[in-house]
Amino acid sequence: MMKEIEFTLNGTRTRTETQPGERLLDLLRERLGLTGTKEGCGIGSCGACTVILDGKAVNACLVPAQAVDGRELVTIEGIMQNESLHPIQDALIRHHAIQCGFCTPGLVMSAKALLDENPDPSRGEIQRAIAGNLCRCTGYEQVIEAIQDAAKGGKTQC
Ligand code: FES
Ligand code: FES
Repeated sequence: MMKEIEFTLNGTRTRTETQPGERLLDLLRERLGLTGTKEGCGIGSCGACTVILDGKAVNACLVPAQAVDGRELVTIEGIMQNESLHPIQDALIRHHAIQCGFCTPGLVMSAKALLDENPDPSRGEIQRAIAGNLCRCTGYEQVIEAIQDAAKGGKTQC
C-alpha cells in the first residue's frame, strides 16, 4: 500500500508517496528526479549512493524510503552555496581528484558529513570517513588531499 511521507529534502519540506519496499535511492532518482545520487553496487558496498540523513552519511540503496519520514535529508543537489560549488567539490577539482566522476557525489557527501561534524579531521579520520566510497579511477591520495584542503578553507595551491 502506498504511504505518504513528509521530510526535509535539501532544505525544502517535501511530501511524496512511497511504495512498500521502495529504496530511498529509487525514491530520489526515479520519483523525485534527483539523479546526482548514483547506483553502483546496490548492496551497500561502493558508496556511490551516499546521502546525508540527519547529519550522518548513509547508503541510499540500503535505506527504505519510508524511513526518511519526518527526517532531514541532504543530497548532492542540495550542497551548492550561493550557486557556487561546495568547497569540497571545488577542492576535488583543483586536486585532480575526479576522473569518470561516478564515485564523486558519494565521496563529496561522505566528506561533507565528516567536515560538518569535525572541521579539522586527521588524515586517519578522513580515511575512515571515505572508507566505504570506492573509486576505480583516481586512487585516494588526491581525494584525501582535497578534503584536507577543503577543511583548511580551500587555500592550498595545487
Ligand atoms: S549503490 Fe549503494 S553502496 Fe553501492
Ligand atoms: S573517478 Fe571514476 S570511480 Fe572515482
